[in-house]
Amino acid sequence: MELIILPDAATASRSAADHLAALLIKKPTAVLGLATGSTPVALYRELIKKQRTEGLDFSGCSSFNLDEYVGLGPDHPASYRRFMQENLFAEINLPLSRVHIPDGLAKDLPAHCDAYEKSIRDAGGIDLQILGIGSDGHIGFNEPTSSLGSRTRLKTLTERTRADNARFFPNPEDVPHHVITMGIGTILEARSISLLAFGASKAAAIAAMVEGPITAMVPASILQTHPAVKVFLDDAAATEPSKIDYYRNVFAQKPSWQQW
Ligand code: GLP
Repeated sequence: MELIILPDAATASRSAADHLAALLIKKPTAVLGLATGSTPVALYRELIKKQRTEGLDFSGCSSFNLDEYVGLGPDHPASYRRFMQENLFAEINLPLSRVHIPDGLAKDLPAHCDAYEKSIRDAGGIDLQILGIGSDGHIGFNEPTSSLGSRTRLKTLTERTRADNARFFPNPEDVPHHVITMGIGTILEARSISLLAFGASKAAAIAAMVEGPITAMVPASILQTHPAVKVFLDDAAATEPSKIDYYRNVFAQKPSWQQW
């Protein structure tokens, strides 16, 4: 894992956007894995800005989102489909025909999850997966104790995650109990991963992910086994790992030939 620790969320989001843009320029048909939550919003704003000011072109891309709430349709204000439309898709030239988000209203959920896996394979696999992290170390909606080899499937949310996400709903009890999420095995097949985390509320999860044992109790810890993970942090999310000075030094000493 490469830790990129920058003073604030805005600077770290710009850095993550530069990394994604470099991939798109190298591979205009890149398959992007996208995430929701508050964390990637600044990254998406940067990408929109790059399209407007630098002509960053998404017209050849495809995208796959990590997850969706079961029971919420695309027009529900808290659905991830609506979130993506408002925060990114409405503002960039990524063709909606190549946008994929699990369907929270699917009648046959297991069949839908299998089909989602197949469409990722048919697209050639994900080139870059964007991730946030839950305060309990979950990625996508793979809650603690999720199988580290899991595929896209139905999951039941923990009460902690429901409480964390209650701010997006009128009432805390409106947060669905069930979700569809890419599995941990699915996420690990992405060729590269950028995980973003900002703020003190993520510091413990980040330390457990980077330095803790690999355990289903901290699903993000499995990322230690992936060969190409960049972790974009602000100072507040990077207070707990014991080797923090080393990670900062690695980044500061990064050879100039070692590009994105
Ligand atoms: C949800 C999403 C995750 C996201 C997490 C943290 O659980 N399914 O993909 O990483 O929330 O969200 P936030 O960035 O708002 O802290």
